[in-house]
Amino acid sequence: MPVLVAPSLLSADFAHLAHELRRLEEAGADWAHLDVMDGHFVPNLTFGPPVLRALRPHTTLFFDAHLMIERPERWIEEYRAAGADGITVHAEACVHLHRCLAQIRATGARVGVSLNPATPLSALEESLDSVDLVLLMSVNPGFGGQAFIPQTLSKVRRLREMCTARALSLDIQVDGGINVHNAPALREVGASVLVAGSAVFGAPDLRAAIAALRG
Ligand code: DX5
Ligand code: ZN
Repeated sequence: MPVLVAPSLLSADFAHLAHELRRLEEAGADWAHLDVMDGHFVPNLTFGPPVLRALRPHTTLFFDAHLMIERPERWIEEYRAAGADGITVHAEACVHLHRCLAQIRATGARVGVSLNPATPLSALEESLDSVDLVLLMSVNPGFGGQAFIPQTLSKVRRLREMCTARALSLDIQVDGGINVHNAPALREVGASVLVAGSAVFGAPDLRAAIAALRG
Protein backbone atom coordinates (compact mmCIF):
# COMPACT_ATOMS: atom_id res chain seq x y z
CA MET A 1 0.00 0.00 0.00
CA PRO A 2 1.45 3.43 -0.87
CA VAL A 3 1.83 5.70 2.15
CA LEU A 4 -0.46 8.65 2.62
CA VAL A 5 1.14 12.09 2.77
CA ALA A 6 -0.26 14.60 5.27
CA PRO A 7 1.46 17.97 4.86
CA SER A 8 1.46 20.05 8.04
CA LEU A 9 -0.04 23.51 7.81
CA LEU A 10 2.35 24.64 10.55
CA SER A 11 4.90 25.36 7.82
CA ALA A 12 2.38 27.09 5.55
CA ASP A 13 1.81 30.82 5.11
CA PHE A 14 -0.46 31.62 8.08
CA ALA A 15 -1.61 34.80 6.35
CA HIS A 16 -3.17 32.72 3.57
CA LEU A 17 -4.19 29.36 5.03
CA ALA A 18 -7.21 28.78 2.76
CA HIS A 19 -5.04 29.39 -0.28
CA GLU A 20 -2.37 27.07 1.11
CA LEU A 21 -4.98 24.33 1.60
CA ARG A 22 -6.12 24.70 -2.00
CA ARG A 23 -2.47 24.45 -3.10
CA LEU A 24 -2.12 21.21 -1.12
CA GLU A 25 -5.27 19.74 -2.65
CA GLU A 26 -4.13 20.65 -6.16
CA ALA A 27 -0.69 19.17 -5.41
CA GLY A 28 -2.16 15.77 -4.53
CA ALA A 29 -1.90 15.77 -0.72
CA ASP A 30 -3.93 13.02 0.93
CA TRP A 31 -4.64 14.76 4.24
CA ALA A 32 -4.18 18.20 5.74
CA HIS A 33 -2.31 17.86 9.04
CA LEU A 34 -3.52 20.55 11.44
CA ASP A 35 -1.15 21.18 14.33
CA VAL A 36 -3.18 22.50 17.25
CA MET A 37 -0.93 23.81 20.02
CA ASP A 38 -2.01 25.41 23.31
CA GLY A 39 1.27 26.88 24.64
CA HIS A 40 1.04 24.56 27.67
CA PHE A 41 1.43 20.97 26.49
CA VAL A 42 3.94 22.31 23.95
CA PRO A 43 5.84 25.64 24.03
CA ASN A 44 3.99 27.09 21.05
CA LEU A 45 0.50 28.40 20.30
CA THR A 46 -1.17 27.98 16.91
CA PHE A 47 -4.91 27.84 16.27
CA GLY A 48 -8.20 26.36 17.51
CA PRO A 49 -11.69 25.40 16.35
CA PRO A 50 -12.58 28.81 14.82
CA VAL A 51 -9.72 28.44 12.33
CA LEU A 52 -10.69 24.88 11.41
CA ARG A 53 -14.29 26.03 10.94
CA ALA A 54 -13.15 28.88 8.67
CA LEU A 55 -10.93 26.57 6.60
CA ARG A 56 -13.36 23.65 6.27
CA PRO A 57 -15.36 24.99 3.29
CA HIS A 58 -12.20 25.66 1.27
CA THR A 59 -11.13 22.06 0.71
CA THR A 60 -12.35 18.48 0.68
CA LEU A 61 -9.02 17.27 2.12
CA PHE A 62 -9.21 15.01 5.19
CA PHE A 63 -8.63 17.25 8.24
CA ASP A 64 -6.13 15.42 10.42
CA ALA A 65 -6.25 17.32 13.73
CA HIS A 66 -3.17 16.76 15.90
CA LEU A 67 -4.13 18.10 19.34
CA MET A 68 -0.99 19.05 21.22
CA ILE A 69 -3.04 20.41 24.09
CA GLU A 70 -3.55 19.68 27.78
CA ARG A 71 -6.79 17.95 28.81
CA PRO A 72 -8.04 17.53 25.22
CA GLU A 73 -11.26 15.94 26.52
CA ARG A 74 -12.54 19.50 26.99
CA TRP A 75 -12.41 20.14 23.22
CA ILE A 76 -13.15 16.92 21.29
CA GLU A 77 -16.71 17.80 20.26
CA GLU A 78 -15.67 21.35 19.27
CA TYR A 79 -12.98 20.10 16.89
CA ARG A 80 -15.36 17.59 15.35
CA ALA A 81 -18.03 20.25 14.90
CA ALA A 82 -15.45 22.57 13.35
CA GLY A 83 -14.71 19.97 10.68
CA ALA A 84 -11.98 17.62 11.95
CA ASP A 85 -12.16 14.20 10.24
CA GLY A 86 -9.51 12.60 12.43
CA ILE A 87 -8.69 13.66 15.99
CA THR A 88 -5.41 12.63 17.57
CA VAL A 89 -4.67 13.24 21.24
CA HIS A 90 -1.44 12.75 23.14
CA ALA A 91 -1.41 9.90 25.65
CA GLU A 92 0.78 12.12 27.83
CA ALA A 93 -1.96 14.78 27.94
CA CYS A 94 -4.81 12.50 29.02
CA VAL A 95 -5.35 11.41 32.61
CA HIS A 96 -8.22 9.19 31.39
CA LEU A 97 -7.05 8.12 27.93
CA HIS A 98 -9.55 5.29 27.49
CA ARG A 99 -12.44 7.68 28.12
CA CYS A 100 -11.00 10.35 25.81
CA LEU A 101 -10.57 7.87 22.95
CA ALA A 102 -14.17 6.71 23.40
CA GLN A 103 -15.22 10.36 23.38
CA ILE A 104 -13.56 10.84 19.97
CA ARG A 105 -15.15 7.61 18.68
CA ALA A 106 -18.58 8.85 19.74
CA THR A 107 -18.24 11.92 17.50
CA GLY A 108 -17.73 9.75 14.40
CA ALA A 109 -14.20 11.07 13.81
CA ARG A 110 -11.29 8.70 13.22
CA VAL A 111 -9.51 8.05 16.52
CA GLY A 112 -5.80 8.73 16.93
CA VAL A 113 -3.36 8.59 19.82
CA SER A 114 0.12 10.11 19.76
CA LEU A 115 3.32 9.36 21.69
CA ASN A 116 6.20 11.77 22.20
CA PRO A 117 9.67 10.44 21.37
CA ALA A 118 10.51 9.39 24.95
CA THR A 119 7.16 7.73 25.68
CA PRO A 120 7.45 3.94 25.33
CA LEU A 121 5.08 1.88 23.19
CA SER A 122 3.99 0.10 26.38
CA ALA A 123 1.86 3.20 27.08
CA LEU A 124 -0.41 1.93 24.27
CA GLU A 125 -0.74 -1.65 25.54
CA GLU A 126 -4.34 -1.13 26.69
CA SER A 127 -5.40 1.31 23.93
CA LEU A 128 -4.45 -0.23 20.57
CA ASP A 129 -7.90 -1.80 20.18
CA SER A 130 -9.57 1.59 20.67
CA VAL A 131 -7.81 3.56 17.91
CA ASP A 132 -7.62 3.77 14.13
CA LEU A 133 -4.21 5.46 14.13
CA VAL A 134 -1.07 5.80 16.22
CA LEU A 135 1.01 8.93 15.68
CA LEU A 136 4.66 8.46 16.65
CA MET A 137 6.45 11.79 17.05
CA SER A 138 9.88 11.86 15.44
CA VAL A 139 10.63 15.27 16.97
CA ASN A 140 9.76 16.80 20.32
CA PRO A 141 6.47 18.54 19.48
CA GLY A 142 6.01 22.30 19.23
CA PHE A 143 7.85 23.43 16.14
CA GLY A 144 8.44 22.59 12.48
CA GLY A 145 11.85 22.35 10.88
CA GLN A 146 13.46 20.16 13.58
CA ALA A 147 15.80 17.22 12.97
CA PHE A 148 14.33 13.71 12.66
CA ILE A 149 15.06 11.50 15.70
CA PRO A 150 16.54 8.31 14.18
CA GLN A 151 15.41 6.01 17.01
CA THR A 152 11.89 6.49 15.66
CA LEU A 153 12.58 3.90 12.94
CA SER A 154 12.94 1.12 15.50
CA LYS A 155 9.84 2.36 17.33
CA VAL A 156 7.79 2.20 14.11
CA ARG A 157 9.04 -1.31 13.39
CA ARG A 158 8.21 -2.52 16.91
CA LEU A 159 4.76 -0.94 16.77
CA ARG A 160 4.04 -2.57 13.41
CA GLU A 161 5.10 -5.91 14.95
CA MET A 162 2.75 -5.28 17.89
CA CYS A 163 -0.12 -4.57 15.49
CA THR A 164 0.63 -7.62 13.35
CA ALA A 165 0.80 -9.87 16.43
CA ARG A 166 -2.67 -8.64 17.42
CA ALA A 167 -4.05 -8.67 13.84
CA LEU A 168 -4.68 -4.92 14.04
CA SER A 169 -4.53 -2.94 10.79
CA LEU A 170 -3.89 0.48 12.27
CA ASP A 171 -2.44 3.47 10.53
CA ILE A 172 1.02 4.26 11.84
CA GLN A 173 1.62 7.97 11.29
CA VAL A 174 5.03 9.57 11.81
CA ASP A 175 5.49 13.27 12.32
CA GLY A 176 8.52 15.53 12.50
CA GLY A 177 11.64 16.06 10.44
CA ILE A 178 10.43 13.82 7.61
CA ASN A 179 11.94 14.36 4.18
CA VAL A 180 12.85 12.57 0.98
CA HIS A 181 15.96 11.10 2.65
CA ASN A 182 14.27 9.32 5.59
CA ALA A 183 10.85 8.62 4.02
CA PRO A 184 11.98 5.37 2.29
CA ALA A 185 13.19 3.88 5.59
CA LEU A 186 9.93 4.88 7.29
CA ARG A 187 7.91 3.21 4.54
CA GLU A 188 10.12 0.14 4.87
CA VAL A 189 9.49 -0.30 8.63
CA GLY A 190 5.75 0.05 8.26
CA ALA A 191 4.70 3.69 8.47
CA SER A 192 1.44 4.27 6.55
CA VAL A 193 1.01 8.04 6.92
CA LEU A 194 3.86 10.55 6.73
CA VAL A 195 3.50 14.11 8.03
CA ALA A 196 5.80 16.72 6.55
CA GLY A 197 5.76 20.48 6.98
CA SER A 198 9.03 22.09 5.95
CA ALA A 199 9.88 19.36 3.40
CA VAL A 200 6.65 20.21 1.54
CA PHE A 201 6.13 23.94 2.02
CA GLY A 202 9.86 24.59 1.73
CA ALA A 203 9.97 22.90 -1.68
CA PRO A 204 9.70 24.82 -4.98
CA ASP A 205 7.20 22.26 -6.33
CA LEU A 206 4.59 20.96 -3.85
CA ARG A 207 3.37 18.16 -6.14
CA ALA A 208 6.91 16.85 -6.67
CA ALA A 209 7.70 17.09 -2.94
CA ILE A 210 4.56 15.15 -1.99
CA ALA A 211 5.16 12.53 -4.69
CA ALA A 212 8.76 12.09 -3.52
CA LEU A 213 7.61 11.33 0.04
CA ARG A 214 5.04 8.84 -1.25
CA GLY A 215 7.79 6.96 -3.12
C1 DX5 B 1 5.45 19.43 15.51
C2 DX5 B 1 4.25 19.08 14.61
C3 DX5 B 1 4.69 18.57 13.27
C4 DX5 B 1 5.52 19.58 12.47
C5 DX5 B 1 6.14 18.89 11.28
O1 DX5 B 1 5.00 19.60 16.82
O2 DX5 B 1 3.43 18.12 15.21
O3 DX5 B 1 3.53 18.21 12.52
O4 DX5 B 1 4.70 20.63 12.04
O5 DX5 B 1 6.96 19.86 10.63
P1 DX5 B 1 8.35 19.39 9.95
O6 DX5 B 1 7.96 18.37 8.89
O7 DX5 B 1 8.93 20.63 9.38
O8 DX5 B 1 9.17 18.76 11.04
ZN1 ZN C 1 1.81 17.33 13.98
